[in-house]
Amino acid sequence: MNKKLLEVNSLAVEYRKPGFKSRPLRVIQDVSFDLHEGETLALVGESGSGKSTIGKAILGLTPSKGGSIKFREQEISALGRRERRTLANQMQVIFQNPYGSLNPALSIGQILAEPLTASGAYTRATASARIAELLERVKMPTDTVGRYPGNFSGGQRQRIAIARALALDPALVICDEPTSALDVSTQAAVLELLGEIQSQTNVAYLFITHDLAVVREFADRAIVLEQGRIVEEGESRRICDAPQHPYTQRLIAAAPVPDPRIQRERREQRRSAKLHPEAVQEASL
Ligand SMILES: Nc1ncnc2c1ncn2[C@@H]1O[C@H](COP(=O)(O)OP(=O)(O)O)[C@@H](O)[C@H]1O
Ligand SMILES: [Mg+2]
Repeated sequence: MNKKLLEVNSLAVEYRKPGFKSRPLRVIQDVSFDLHEGETLALVGESGSGKSTIGKAILGLTPSKGGSIKFREQEISALGRRERRTLANQMQVIFQNPYGSLNPALSIGQILAEPLTASGAYTRATASARIAELLERVKMPTDTVGRYPGNFSGGQRQRIAIARALALDPALVICDEPTSALDVSTQAAVLELLGEIQSQTNVAYLFITHDLAVVREFADRAIVLEQGRIVEEGESRRICDAPQHPYTQRLIAAAPVPDPRIQRERREQRRSAKLHPEAVQEASL
């Protein structure tokens, strides 16, 4: 079995609204999970359930209020700036919005060179070979280096963001809704790419999404969050096919179904449910 990479225990996070008297709002409460090398764990829940906050706490972008976060057995929830920097090479993030995440004033070559040279592990010469390798890995042509983010579509930008995240061979990539802004066919291609990269590099993904169809296809395990608490966790297919908690059941019933055949079946089920309400329970999932 692959080694444990990340271990989160009883994590709590609070936000304080600006203002002298405001009470802190606890948005994450008693969240525990672990993630192994080469594994994909989905973090699922509706908007506002606290998915991004968990990602930010792991990345050190928001402080935790309690509990522990261990990366390769090292406690990382209270690291100083310098220690965080070393860790940053091993832990990367891809965000939802490929338009906001790439600096439009820099060429793709400059964007990809930045993490390489900042790490001190690459010179300008060795960086350019690495950049070519990264572009090949995300299936972008080599002449991409001289062009600017504005020249590319959302899907292509997301590939470039993936290349940047992979620059220093991270062990963990936190993917925060990486395909939510893309159309369905581009989504599928980006997921396929992420899957391919995982089988080549054994990178682990913490995959944040509200899309249950993606969870079923892409993740090994899933955690379901409701208002900052875990209500269900397990193998992702089991969660999607036989959800136990009413909240998960509601999420799945509300999820859009991309496959037209299944859509038709669901529609017929809904119609027959109206005529025969007693059959709803069997038909709705
Ligand atoms: N910087 C912040 N300050 C105050 N409240 C925040 C902040 N960021 C998020 N929240 C609140 O915390 C909760 C969880 O947000 P978030 O982690 O972004 O959820 P998700 O990613 O699941 O949509 C929400 O109620 C949100 O309004
Ligand atoms: Mg979010």
